[in-house]
Amino acid sequence: MEIKVELTKNPKEKVPADNLGFGNVFSDHMFIMDYKTDKGWHNARIVPYSSISYEPAIMVFHYGQAIFEGLKAYRTEKGEVVLFRPEENFKRLNASCDALCIPRIDEDFALKALLKLLSIDKSWVPDAPGTSLYIRPFIIATEPHIGVHPAGSYHFIIITGPVGAYYKEGLNPVKIYVETKYVRAVVGGLGEAKASANYAASLRAQMEAEKKGYTQVLWLDGIERKYVEEVGTMNVFFVIGDEIVTPMLTGSILPGITRKSCIELLRSWGLKIIERKISIEEIYQAHEKGLLKEAFGTGTAAVISPIGELCWNDKKIILSDGKIGELSQKLYDELTGIQYTRKPDLFNWIVKVE
Ligand code: COI
Repeated sequence: MEIKVELTKNPKEKVPADNLGFGNVFSDHMFIMDYKTDKGWHNARIVPYSSISYEPAIMVFHYGQAIFEGLKAYRTEKGEVVLFRPEENFKRLNASCDALCIPRIDEDFALKALLKLLSIDKSWVPDAPGTSLYIRPFIIATEPHIGVHPAGSYHFIIITGPVGAYYKEGLNPVKIYVETKYVRAVVGGLGEAKASANYAASLRAQMEAEKKGYTQVLWLDGIERKYVEEVGTMNVFFVIGDEIVTPMLTGSILPGITRKSCIELLRSWGLKIIERKISIEEIYQAHEKGLLKEAFGTGTAAVISPIGELCWNDKKIILSDGKIGELSQKLYDELTGIQYTRKPDLFNWIVKVE
């Protein structure tokens, strides 16, 4: 399929790196493609970033058929622009399509479209340390209709924007509240899809945790409130004795690409990394025995986010003396080293933008 291009006549001013924050600034162009039942995906185009008008009846507003992805483009020291495992994002986008009865996209074409968009907006990839261009592909149901069933029309859109750190803490450890009242997802639901609904479901717990002075919540399973699932919007790892444990993908946990990359790196370093169910009780017991060395979240946005404190039913524990753990730092250095091409790409994870 051909991708039509309409360039902006009013390029926007770039925002200085110190003022970027995360998710506030958007590049000059966006990619957009339409779907209709009788035509399939069609009308692929790159156009100036702008508002889009929709009828109030479109189905995403009512029944939430919305999925998204998140990845980043990095400016290397040589001035090149690269992506980290982008094919994994489009593969997962299709898995999310299946979960929400959204028609699949052609993954190779989506990557081609992204590369074309980035070649047009390359100047938007910032070069200050710790900055990158966040890429947000998403699909929404655009059929104006009020009956509950999968929509017959969709938009697949990719927007991008320069970002700094996701958490104000950066790599500094965050305080985490173990959530025992609200749940993020249950097995059989949407938990393993990157569905916007999962993020809507997380907001109330997040707000209440913040009011109590915590940065994020640790999610437990939706049935027993026993097994650890995720932390905030990230996957989670615990270092217990000489083992590293991360919750196995049961169906209610997002299969994170940073999670997968950490597992592959840890294995390649000869470390014992285990995917299994792990209860919050086991984590507290390991802490009591002096075996809990560190814990951290993994995600595209923050990369690695060390956990400095946990609070479960009013019982507070401090991890790694509230400092950045050794393994958190090592994984962060390795991942960002590969992403900014300061370190060799032994796994072929890097895709160059021409
Ligand atoms: C991530 O950790 O990369 C996320 O999914 C955060 C995103 C929702 C901003």
